[in-house]
Amino acid sequence: MTNFDQIIERRGTHSSKWDNIKKLSGITADDAIPMWVADMDFAAPPGVTGALQESLDRGVHGYYADNGSWAEAACNWMEKRHQAKFKPEWVSPTPGIVSGLGLILQAVSEPDDEVVLFPPAYHAFRKIILANKRKISDAELVESNRRYVMDFDSLAKLLTPKTKVVFFCNPHNPGGNAWSPDEIRELADFCISHNLILVSDEIHCDLIYPHAKHIPTLSAAPEVADRLITCVAATKTFNLAGAHVGACITSNADLKRRLDERIGASGLGSYNAFGMLATEAAWQTGEGWLEELLSYLDSNRHFFDQSIETAVPGAKSMLLDATYLAWVDFAGTGLSPEVVANRVKDHARIFASPGQQFGPGGSNRLRFNFATPRPILVDAMQRLSDAFSDLR
Ligand SMILES: Cc1ncc(COP(=O)(O)O)c(C=O)c1O
Repeated sequence: MTNFDQIIERRGTHSSKWDNIKKLSGITADDAIPMWVADMDFAAPPGVTGALQESLDRGVHGYYADNGSWAEAACNWMEKRHQAKFKPEWVSPTPGIVSGLGLILQAVSEPDDEVVLFPPAYHAFRKIILANKRKISDAELVESNRRYVMDFDSLAKLLTPKTKVVFFCNPHNPGGNAWSPDEIRELADFCISHNLILVSDEIHCDLIYPHAKHIPTLSAAPEVADRLITCVAATKTFNLAGAHVGACITSNADLKRRLDERIGASGLGSYNAFGMLATEAAWQTGEGWLEELLSYLDSNRHFFDQSIETAVPGAKSMLLDATYLAWVDFAGTGLSPEVVANRVKDHARIFASPGQQFGPGGSNRLRFNFATPRPILVDAMQRLSDAFSDLR
């Protein structure tokens, strides 16, 4: 049994989550708690550490030979966990999903073309679109019963001849939706009728709670396969974000060729050996560890949702189907977003992700990562309770 309660000191270890707090949040207190980036405070599954240890013991760290086992491990995992029918020959490894998204944009669109997002949406989507000199078309999600839904009427009105690509996050970050087959099919039909490339970022697909199920976009809507690129990775699931490797998958050979050309043109066709070894071992050996993790995260999720409403009267957390990222709406507190942000930052000494980063629909919110040992989470909730004690 993995002891997820164990606190592993990460300060001073080149951990972005812990060592970038002062630089990125402005919190100067040494006891600050990072609840921002999607990175867990848990050790990787033993099979991953074992595979890396074997490599370290050998001590020779030359170029990596891709014999196809990595793509096979990715497809086997997606089939076993999600009944997805991906084939290894459809897979292109990239140095992470965000870099994959940039390469996809270069492969299927031109500067000044428009990319649809469903905000509030993962902030790196916005950054990579703008960094590639494409434009963002925001189709803001609508909240209904603490869950987001897509608004296809507004989406249709946004389209111009320059709209080429849709970035779909399934499950959604930060809303935590596992989209239903009907919702996915409606989006797929929309992409087909408007000649759009659909990119389905499924990096959070394994971090799913017992009441929900992840439906891969390809499974819900096989008819969109020709214009679909699915992105998956082992890095969120098994806490290997520093391994920086992901998979972009499409059954459309021409689309894959265009993507592979961009990968080649950027010199990215040779892969980081440590990342490949770690993530392949994770897919091959990590399932038992993942089951334990999911049960731990589920109890942290319940604890967070209950505590936040008591600690901060008026605050409401989105009902998460997936992810360990609580998306909290502070509008009901009656405090301005600035006051809320300052109390969380200065009084509670907690670095949460500011809602504005996620685009339209984010301004009254903060995103809290609760994938941390329970004692740290308990401390965080107590600090929030103290910071908002005047509201009770
Ligand atoms: C939806 C989504 N896509 C991609 C990423 C990052 O992927 P990578 O580190 O492989 O670039 C994240 C990280 O939080 C994410 O939430």
